[in-house]
Amino acid sequence: MKVTVIGAGNVGASCADYLAQRNFLSELILLDIKENFAEGKAMDLNQTAVYNHFYTTIKGVTNDYPATAGSDVVVITSGIARKPGMTREELIATNAGIVKEVVLKALSHSPDAFFIIVSNPLDTMTYLAYKTLGIPRNKIFGMGGALDSARFKYYLSQALQKSPSDISALVVGAHSDTGMIPLIRWATYNGVPVSCYLSEQEMEDIVQKTKVGGATLTQLLGTSAWYGPGAAVAHVVQSILCNHHVIIPSSVYLEGEYGLQDVCIGVPSLISKNGIDSIKEIDLNEAELQQMRDVAASLQAINSRLFDNP
Ligand code: NAI
Ligand code: 2OP
Repeated sequence: MKVTVIGAGNVGASCADYLAQRNFLSELILLDIKENFAEGKAMDLNQTAVYNHFYTTIKGVTNDYPATAGSDVVVITSGIARKPGMTREELIATNAGIVKEVVLKALSHSPDAFFIIVSNPLDTMTYLAYKTLGIPRNKIFGMGGALDSARFKYYLSQALQKSPSDISALVVGAHSDTGMIPLIRWATYNGVPVSCYLSEQEMEDIVQKTKVGGATLTQLLGTSAWYGPGAAVAHVVQSILCNHHVIIPSSVYLEGEYGLQDVCIGVPSLISKNGIDSIKEIDLNEAELQQMRDVAASLQAINSRLFDNP
C-alpha cells in the first residue's frame, strides 16, 4: 500500500513518522515545495527504522508528482500554520491556492486515491478540495474531529484522573475555536456517562478547554501542534487501508444529513475501506442540532466568500 503526504512540515512529517511506526505500508512519499526539505525529512525518518522496527520505505521528493503515482491515500498538510493569536480562518487566503493546486496535481497521478485534507481552515479547505476535484464524497474528507476528540478525551481524563483510552467522546461541528461542538452529554468513562463523576461546572470547563485546545498549544509552541494531528491522521489512514470500521468524526460534504447540505462539517463517520462508509446520524437534542445549524451557516458564509473571490 502506498500513501503520499503533501507538505513535509511539522504535521506532515509527524504523520509520516506515525504511519511508518504502524508498519503496514510498503511505500510512503513525502512531497514538499521547499527544495530538498522532504528528502531530508525522509532520510531522517528512514534512519529510525532500525529502532522503530518498520519496513515501510519513505521517499522524500521536491514537487515530483509522478513519484506519487498510484497512491492509495493522499494526505494534504501543505500550507501555512497559525501563529499565536491567529485564527484558523486567517489562513484561507494563502492555503486556498495551495490546496487547490496540490489536490489537482495529486489526483492526476492517483485517480483512485482517497484524499484526507488537514490544511486549515479545515472545513473550508475540505469543501474547496471536494468542489475542485469532483470525486465522490466518500473519497475526500477532512481530519479535524479525530484530533478534537482526542483533546476532549485528554481534558476529560485530566478531570477524571483516568486513562484517556478508557474514555469515549466525540467532537462534531467545525474544526474551529467557535464552531467545535464537544458532545459532553454523550461522553462516557468505561460506558458510564461522565456526568456521573463531574459537576456541570467541570463539564462546561472541559468543553471550553477543548474548543481552544489548538489555540492553547499554539500559544505554548509558537506554532500549531503536530504530534496530536500527526497521530490522528495516521489513525484515519490506517482505518481506511486496514478496513477498521471505526467511528471517527470527520469533515464530510453533507447531502441532507442532520438537516444540512452543501457544507463540509464534522460528523460521526464510519471509516472503512470505502473511506466514509456512512455518516451516523446520532440523536442530537434540539440545542445540539441548533448549534450544528449555526456552525454550518457560518461555514457556508465563509465558503461562499471563498468562491466569490477565488
Ligand atoms: P508547516 O509550516 O510546518 O508545514 C507546511 C509545509 O507545507 C511546509 O513544509 C511547506 O514548505 C509546505 N508547502 C507549502 N506550500 C506547498 C505546496 N504548494 N506544495 C507542497 N508543499 C507545500 O505547517 P504544519 O504545522 O505542518 O501545518 C500544516 C497545515 O495543517 C496548516 O495549515 C495547519 O494549520 C494545519 N493543521 C491542521 C490540523 C487539523 O487538525 N486539521 C492540525 C494541525 C495543523
Ligand atoms: C490545531 O488544532 C491549529 O488546527 C490546528 O492544532
